[in-house]
Amino acid sequence: MSNCIPPTTTGKTTSASSTTSKATTTTSSTSTVKTTTSTSTVTTTSKTTTSTTSSSTAEPSGSGPNKTIAKVPVLGWNSWNAYGGNINEAVILATANSMVSLGLKAAGYQFVDIDDTWSNITGRDPTTQRILPDSNKFPNGIEYLATEIHNLGLKFGIYGDAGLTTCSGFPGSLYYEDIDAQTFSDWGVDLIKYDNCAVPANWSDTYVTDEYTSNTALRYIRMGNALNTVSRPIVFSLCEWGADAVWTWGARVGHQWRLTGDSSSSWSFVTSAITTAASVATYTNFYGHGDMDMMEIGNGGLSSSEERTHFAAWSFLKSPIILGTNLTNLSPAQISVITNSELLAFSQDTTYGAPALQYDTTNPPTYFSGSSSAGQHAFGVNYVNSTASLTFTFSAIPQLANKTSWLVHDMWAKKDIGTFSGSYTASVAGHDTAALRFT
Ligand code: GLA
Repeated sequence: MSNCIPPTTTGKTTSASSTTSKATTTTSSTSTVKTTTSTSTVTTTSKTTTSTTSSSTAEPSGSGPNKTIAKVPVLGWNSWNAYGGNINEAVILATANSMVSLGLKAAGYQFVDIDDTWSNITGRDPTTQRILPDSNKFPNGIEYLATEIHNLGLKFGIYGDAGLTTCSGFPGSLYYEDIDAQTFSDWGVDLIKYDNCAVPANWSDTYVTDEYTSNTALRYIRMGNALNTVSRPIVFSLCEWGADAVWTWGARVGHQWRLTGDSSSSWSFVTSAITTAASVATYTNFYGHGDMDMMEIGNGGLSSSEERTHFAAWSFLKSPIILGTNLTNLSPAQISVITNSELLAFSQDTTYGAPALQYDTTNPPTYFSGSSSAGQHAFGVNYVNSTASLTFTFSAIPQLANKTSWLVHDMWAKKDIGTFSGSYTASVAGHDTAALRFT
């Protein structure tokens, strides 16, 4: 990897540096497969020693993400934050049913995604080389699970890895991209989260000016191209933790790209994700979204104000919003936060693709503004852990500067506050976020 770090203005350690070491170098078993980087062709059966090659000298021929899906940020749930490796069919189906019964589906949440550890750790089908489910966790197979989830009107996501194994040591998809894309399509998969562990040494990166030609990008392009050859449209979620300036090429390869290392249920994670995402927010637009990682609401560790900021920022920066908790433990107040219709409407707007952008120079970034079909918007994050006054000065906000007087609306309360001239000052609780609309 090239150790590129998002150009945050803080100089804080960001995900890229914190995760670089995770792309473990592994050389075992690479001698039994033959491949080239220019195509996804796989030759997996030979036991003869054939060197794997990767090259980053030429512009790769990536076919790019499918533009019939994921125009706006994905909304859903993923098993990892709440369950880690303790997943099984019953847990996933119960979660899918909770998505419906708790009103999350009605609010727009669609995807139910299984993360790492779903497959058979001992290996692929020896004849077909297909990846196999863990038959103890998923006794009826993955196609059955996907069908049950589809029958609830939801979509189904799966997890894979652009290396020899997943981060938990299960079979990886490097060199098996075509087979795995076909298998996922056959099973009815609607999204693949594609991780970045167990990268063979011959795929390591040296610095290249255009990171789209990096070996990391090439490993992801291989799967992107394979996905484009199968009949089923599949959302391609790049999970390489912000390495190799993924924000500069992510939209050319997939629909969303992780910007940070793994989330934790902490205020420091929320603020560092906001800082990183804000610094590269101009790369996010329709069909390509910087991914601030899965949500921690419901997992403890965050106050109610901090959970509101977590949700508001993921909404106004147009990150995918992937819930990461046991849904049945959510309180009515937490459900009301994650189903806030005005923030979700900003996130899911099909006319305005850009996220809110920082318009001040504070660090960490305090003030953001943007446009939606409902009007103009400004957001203010209170990083101080006590109530603070945040002043929104209309002349400083690009979307508001053309008029002195605006009707101000509180997107949390879903109520008009009144008409103000020149500026509006909000009283914001410690670690909370003001979410305003102006018409
Ligand atoms: C990596 C990813 C996580 C999760 C785990 C699973 O750490 O970043 O989101 O998928 O792997 O092992």
